[in-house]
Amino acid sequence: MINYNALYEKAKEVLYKNWMIKYTAPSKYLYPHQWSWDSGFIAIGYSHYDQEKAQNEIISLFKGQWKNGMLPHIVYHCDFENYFPDPDYWMTHINENAPSIKTSGIIQQPVHATACLYIYKNAKDIKKAKEFLRFIFPKLKSWHEFLYRERNPDNDGLICIVHPWESGTDNIPVWDDIYRRIKVEEEKLPVYKRKDIETVAKEYRPTDKDYDIYIYLIELFKELKYDQKSILEHSPFLVKGPLLNSILAQSNLDLAEIARIIGEDYKIFEEWYELTKNALNEKLLDCDQHIYLYYDLRNKKLINTHVSAGFTPLYAKIPPDEEAKCIFDYMNSGSFCKLGEKCYAVVSFDRKSKDFSPHHYWRGPIWVNMNWLIYKGLKKYDFPEFKEYASYIAKSIIDLISYYGFYEYFGHEGKGYGAKDFSWTASLLIDVLFEEKGLKEP
Ligand code: SER
Repeated sequence: MINYNALYEKAKEVLYKNWMIKYTAPSKYLYPHQWSWDSGFIAIGYSHYDQEKAQNEIISLFKGQWKNGMLPHIVYHCDFENYFPDPDYWMTHINENAPSIKTSGIIQQPVHATACLYIYKNAKDIKKAKEFLRFIFPKLKSWHEFLYRERNPDNDGLICIVHPWESGTDNIPVWDDIYRRIKVEEEKLPVYKRKDIETVAKEYRPTDKDYDIYIYLIELFKELKYDQKSILEHSPFLVKGPLLNSILAQSNLDLAEIARIIGEDYKIFEEWYELTKNALNEKLLDCDQHIYLYYDLRNKKLINTHVSAGFTPLYAKIPPDEEAKCIFDYMNSGSFCKLGEKCYAVVSFDRKSKDFSPHHYWRGPIWVNMNWLIYKGLKKYDFPEFKEYASYIAKSIIDLISYYGFYEYFGHEGKGYGAKDFSWTASLLIDVLFEEKGLKEP
């Protein structure tokens, strides 16, 4: 029998261990700085029991926002030896939009408006929460404006990424095809030393070849002085996918709600939601294959690789009922995890694919954040089998963490891998416990 209250207390301890006063690290040892989408998920967890910490998490993150609205994927509040790339590596001062605090020069998934709405909805002190929304609203707005202005190459509402780290799913097999095309010019690659493999076994992390591509791309962006237009023109990695666009679509809806709460104009956010939703359905949904795919803008083709991110449009209620059922059938199969079979829901990559690798970062394992997005999405539909699957995902999240610990990710057999005491594993578990098990703060 799992003691949910005790598990909740353990989750709070994990967040406390990673708390760095100004922000919460995803993992003190592997990722000691502040990461953008991690902090969004972390604030959702805090919103259930510590409004102030939740607000501060977001406020600290937006200290790194660039003048053009870009929210960078890492904000460096301190100097630490145990992470590469270190703050100075990025040289963001070469772009006039960079803030005085050190940051990276690329983006990550825009989950922040959603996190802010959670903070408001779970707030004990509504007055403070409204003040917070008034403070953060213009920053969120300019973040979304940046995405629709600078990262919307076909003007169709599908936002693109220019670097695998922007996806947050660094070595997802979707990129394999693209990597085969990228020629790393050795002379442009600086001498660098990976630090991640001092904390986590190399076999579970992206390969050295992956890292060369990551660094090669950043060197290119530095050469282009982080000018977005030039990056879009020259980056050999240029992709539009279902994960970022679904998260953004939901954030648009939530930003519209925030605008309504504080009496601001909300129409543009609803229009963006519709635009992105329609483009996802028209351009990335492959009905024959029962999944949303990624689009490689350089090669001008859909990438036929089936990952659980391809189900995340459910999160923002992007697919209409019939299409939702169609993608659900694929997820609810031996490829990801079929209800009634002995498996944890859901693996990040089709288990029947030849490259499925059960313990290798984003190439097969189960990730709590990805499953949380799908769990939330399934609950937005009225079909009983969707609700049943959502409960099963929640059970998988709770069981995995209570049996194996607060790991960064889990193998399909259950064991934990990557960083121990991982913040979003803890924070999203808290959200699931509150929603599924009715936990309450006194
Ligand atoms: N996820 C990348 C890393 O492993 C950076 O965002 O360091």
